[in-house]
Amino acid sequence: VPTPITVTVTGAGGQIGYAALFRIASGAMFGPEQPVALRLLEIPQGVKGAEGAALELVDGAFPLLASIDIATTPEVGFDGANVALLVGSRPRTAGMERADLLAANGAIFGPQGRAINDHAADDVRVLVVGNPANTNALIAQRNAPDVPAERFTAMTRLDHNRAVGLLAEHAAARVADIAGVTIWGNHSTTQYPDLSHATIAGRPAFDVVGEEWGRGAFIERVANRGAEIIEVRGGSSVASAANAAIDHVRDWSLGTPPAAESGVAPWTSVALPSTGAYGIPEGLLASVPARAVAGAWQVVEGLELDEFSRHRIAASAAELAAERDQVAEMGLIPAE
Ligand code: NAI
Repeated sequence: VPTPITVTVTGAGGQIGYAALFRIASGAMFGPEQPVALRLLEIPQGVKGAEGAALELVDGAFPLLASIDIATTPEVGFDGANVALLVGSRPRTAGMERADLLAANGAIFGPQGRAINDHAADDVRVLVVGNPANTNALIAQRNAPDVPAERFTAMTRLDHNRAVGLLAEHAAARVADIAGVTIWGNHSTTQYPDLSHATIAGRPAFDVVGEEWGRGAFIERVANRGAEIIEVRGGSSVASAANAAIDHVRDWSLGTPPAAESGVAPWTSVALPSTGAYGIPEGLLASVPARAVAGAWQVVEGLELDEFSRHRIAASAAELAAERDQVAEMGLIPAE
């Protein structure tokens, strides 16, 4: 039997935690042979939720679930963690100033980054889900100087899955026939869901759905899908967010699928520290097209960008740069 993989989930007593934990325990993240040890990290107000989830996890009698531990300090919570899902955060509430939002999250993700740096396993892989996800991930990454920067990622997989799902629905196509969709930039309304390289059963997506829709209503719908869910459901995206987090870590660990006989290997969308590709300033955690090979993300290189795409990517990267400058000014990330 393989050694269990230790997965630390912060905000484990919250909604996404509740939806994610059972699927992780069932084997959805690492496959049906790999045991997992779950570490639930909460703040005192959330501990009861985590304790309740832990009781129910026992009641799931999951054969792959090696242990469940609850922690209230990041030092204990991340001790020996192989995978860290950073879900708990301080999202923006009505009337909250941007500076207050960033300061509150700096107080969470700075210490968590330092605890990951000092206590996590050498192979730790970090996914930040809690919003503002990209900048929270930047704060954690910059506070963990001993961990390779590319081990820190922020989640745009939900946006990616939304884009694929909505394209399939609109084209009356199968999800399995869609490839080449990319989310660029920030997990915010400035994100750029890009169909210019997308195909549906091998045909350019724009030939199927029309460029006007693909560069117009489609982008708006994907970028505002979170608000649409809140309006219809009366609450934020939870199960789809947990599902996306599991997809992200599973692909990162087990690899994205190889190329079919003819054609290119499929890719997904991941926010990871920029190396400068596609004109995105170095170091920003901006979403890009990427494949996972042998446990590492590889940015899909050499995609041709038209004027429209270049402009949209630059605009979303500029928003991320402004957030970075603000957290740097507030001393939430160390100077370079
Ligand atoms: P929730 O409010 O139900 O749960 C959050 C939990 O985090 C709470 O139990 C809280 O006690 C805990 N928490 C807060 N600070 C913490 C800390 N310092 N350490 C450990 N735990 C802490 O919220 P929900 O619905 O589970 O969403 C979580 C986050 O995910 C939100 O920030 C939300 O905006 C974000 N989100 C991101 C998405 C993405 O695509 N990147 C999609 C959907 C949600």
